[in-house]
Amino acid sequence: MSNYIKIEKGIKSFDKEVNVSGDKSLSIRFLLLASQAKGVSKAYNLLNSEDVNSTIECLKSLGVKIFKKKNYCKIIGKGIGEFKYKKGIVLNAGNSGTLGRLILALLVKSPAKIKLIGDKSLSKRDFSRVIEPLKKFGVSFYPKNKKKLPIFIKGTKHLKAIKFTENKGSAQVKSSVMFAALNVTDETTIKAKKSRNHTENLFKYLKIPISIRKYKKEDHIKVSGNKNYKSFNYNVPGDISSSAFFIVLTILSKNSKILIKNVNINPTRIGVVRILKMMGAKIIFKNIKEYKGEKIANIYVKSTSPLKAINCPTEFNSSSIDEFLIIFLVAAKANGTSYFKDLSELNQKESPRLKIGSRILTMIGVKNKLTNNSIKIYGQPNLRLDKNYEVKNFLKDHRVFMMSAIAALTLGGNWKIHDQDSINSSFPSFLNIVRKLGGQVN
Ligand code: S3P
Repeated sequence: MSNYIKIEKGIKSFDKEVNVSGDKSLSIRFLLLASQAKGVSKAYNLLNSEDVNSTIECLKSLGVKIFKKKNYCKIIGKGIGEFKYKKGIVLNAGNSGTLGRLILALLVKSPAKIKLIGDKSLSKRDFSRVIEPLKKFGVSFYPKNKKKLPIFIKGTKHLKAIKFTENKGSAQVKSSVMFAALNVTDETTIKAKKSRNHTENLFKYLKIPISIRKYKKEDHIKVSGNKNYKSFNYNVPGDISSSAFFIVLTILSKNSKILIKNVNINPTRIGVVRILKMMGAKIIFKNIKEYKGEKIANIYVKSTSPLKAINCPTEFNSSSIDEFLIIFLVAAKANGTSYFKDLSELNQKESPRLKIGSRILTMIGVKNKLTNNSIKIYGQPNLRLDKNYEVKNFLKDHRVFMMSAIAALTLGGNWKIHDQDSINSSFPSFLNIVRKLGGQVN
């Protein structure tokens, strides 16, 4: 099967209801936390994607029993740190930074050396951000001073609680320290720049000893561990990061409407909606409900024109970190010059997204100015494309693929987009939903 798609026709008006698949951050966290619970946990609507399957495979290699049924996934936990640590275990985190960084934190008691590997993209990404705090707990890494995968970890019986300052706004780093803290009786303290708070919500729901003080720019989190918690059931809500592609598809299409049902609208995740609303987009949350510390709603979106440029407040950076590529596309159609800054973290993702976003904008004739941590985008409200465009060599970054598909469907031109299988990381049903809305993809 060829691994590229062709899009040669813009999408016609649509008015549809859709469901996106389960939230990736919550699916991975469910599995990892259920593996440390005592008893049988079940998740419904768990995301069925490669990142989540890699999580399941890693846990199975550590002796955890997991059963995927038609409607749910069942996992049997034996308690905190209770894995089967055999010699020579190799864990493969595949494409998933979240899995790679979080699973290391569950291995802090491992008497055996365990090897962690990942795919080409993950092997280029920084792991020192979790290696350094985990070393402070007393854990060893080999080879010494290596910052990237592959890497070996060896735990210790003599774990020490730590005091840690997380200053990147990275939920992966914060959560990794919190997971390690589960294994230590004394209190670990984290001063964390704001980032998605799913781990905190799950800890509270599971009654793991945690206290959180919220300040304007950071949270002070205290966790004490070595207290087993009970198994649990979880109904994973839809992923706002996957929804964002359809929110933007609708905004940039003519006379269209969409209702995306049952999406997690946790306030630490909806920077994209806040940003798009500042740009004039018509987005409404309906039927808002609380679920185990998360907030869930149906998202109603209408086509919007004209769109306004934005000088994007940096306070939204963390809560929209996975959505900037698709936001850049809206900026390309906005009236005026948009500015996004303090975004060096974007180049630390599955691909260097700030650079690749700029490259795609340049390819479609949208002037932009790129630095190491910012981009200025000179919007063209009447942008229409009529040439041939090819998107390739983007380290199979799922979000680059999906952003390119949305560009093709809304801006015109003849597009060839490579590495279709990249969507399997986070959103295997992406193209099915595009087709359901009337998009023609070959
Ligand atoms: C995630 C955190 C973010 C995000 C990633 C998922 C998580 O990464 O980009 O897709 O589930 O914790 P950082 O914490 O590195 O910003």
